[in-house]
Amino acid sequence: GIELGKLLASTGYVTYDPGFMNTAPTKSAITYIDGEAGILRYRGYPIDQLAGTSTFIEVSYLLIYGELPSQAQLDDFTDRIRRHTLLHEDLKRFFDGFPRNAHPMPVLSSAVNALSAYYQDSLDPRDPEQVELSTIRLLAKLPTIAAYSYKKSVGQPFLYPDNSLSLVENFLRMTFGFPAEPYEVDPEVAAALDMLLILHADHEQNCSTSTVRLVGSSDANLFTSVSGGINALWGPLHGGANQAVLEMLDGIKSDGGDVKEFIRKVKNKEDGVKLMGFGHRVYRNYDPRAAIAKKHADAILQKLGNDELFDIAQSLEEAALTDEYFVERRLYPNVDFYTGVIYKAMGFPTRMFTVLFAMGRLPGWIAHWREMHSEPLKIGRPRQIYTGYGARDYREITNR
Ligand code: ACO
Repeated sequence: GIELGKLLASTGYVTYDPGFMNTAPTKSAITYIDGEAGILRYRGYPIDQLAGTSTFIEVSYLLIYGELPSQAQLDDFTDRIRRHTLLHEDLKRFFDGFPRNAHPMPVLSSAVNALSAYYQDSLDPRDPEQVELSTIRLLAKLPTIAAYSYKKSVGQPFLYPDNSLSLVENFLRMTFGFPAEPYEVDPEVAAALDMLLILHADHEQNCSTSTVRLVGSSDANLFTSVSGGINALWGPLHGGANQAVLEMLDGIKSDGGDVKEFIRKVKNKEDGVKLMGFGHRVYRNYDPRAAIAKKHADAILQKLGNDELFDIAQSLEEAALTDEYFVERRLYPNVDFYTGVIYKAMGFPTRMFTVLFAMGRLPGWIAHWREMHSEPLKIGRPRQIYTGYGARDYREITNR
């Protein structure tokens, strides 16, 4: 591919491929997807095995370093992350500058970008020790930043991390706890959230990961590159879909719960209505992550209380999967279709859903950025097909 690219460039030919439907800008050894068969593997390990038995920390290690850790390696990795969960006190005040009703995603991406201002001793992409330090800092601090972006939105005080807790438990406590009040982490909720983070941990060259790679390809530091990825993730066609799904389900409920009528609108493309949480660029089959999320939604809702929105989601799926429009286009539920109802049951407001996605996707972004830097760096610089004017002469303003 690279050789063909060079050859075409030397002859002046470019490939026109809107949306990069067929362009592979890189080779990668991290994640394998077979969209026809509905297969997803991280470093060769099937997603259902990892989601069923591993932990988010272990999967982060696997994605970033390429192999499952030994117990000693896992303990060391976990310890190093624990030591970096605090945010610089000045960076904590950064949150004060945002309006309370700010969406937590721009708060998250701004604070992550600001890490490059506060931790200038780990910015050099060519120094392996600095890359390692920024990797650990990001993994440790993102949950703290995510929790603070929530606290900011509800006007509650920030909690310092409690490093006796696991990464996910700590995040839940910093999000839902109060200073000087004991917070009991529900182990089933922590386990379910950990599993959901695993489901989101990588998905090869998706929009946000491609963004991280493109920003990083200019030799920009890891914090800044990941901040770019968070912004790409926010869009409703990508990670923002989990928020959009819940808003869609809420809308159907308040309109009386008529699923068939909603499907009719989608099929007629009325007002640009889409079935959010359905369809995928790569999967032409059931997204394996959606199947796992659906199974867990059922279990967690039985524990935390059933939600009518889950019933609406299931009816929508049933109606869509037997409808010609969706069958012809091979549209199936994607990972975002069932995660929202679980997050809601856990107590997260809708606007936090994409932040949770970002927490999950972080090790994938880091792994791709590091993989890119492990090879000779080539700046990402697509070409274009120019469709504007030919040369024309400048005219004085009085002459226009
Ligand atoms: N609802 C209704 N129609 C759809 C949907 C949908 N969710 N998704 C695709 N289609 C239709 C398109 O309108 C198009 O129809 P047409 O041939 O009549 O024009 C056809 O299916 C092909 O879809 P494209 O949009 O061309 O497919 P693409 O690969 O470019 O887009 C995407 C993929 C963005 C995910 C799309 O399916 C979508 O918008 N889905 C809803 C948003 C969503 O759930 N995003 C999350 C994706 S997963 C993730 O990022 C975690």
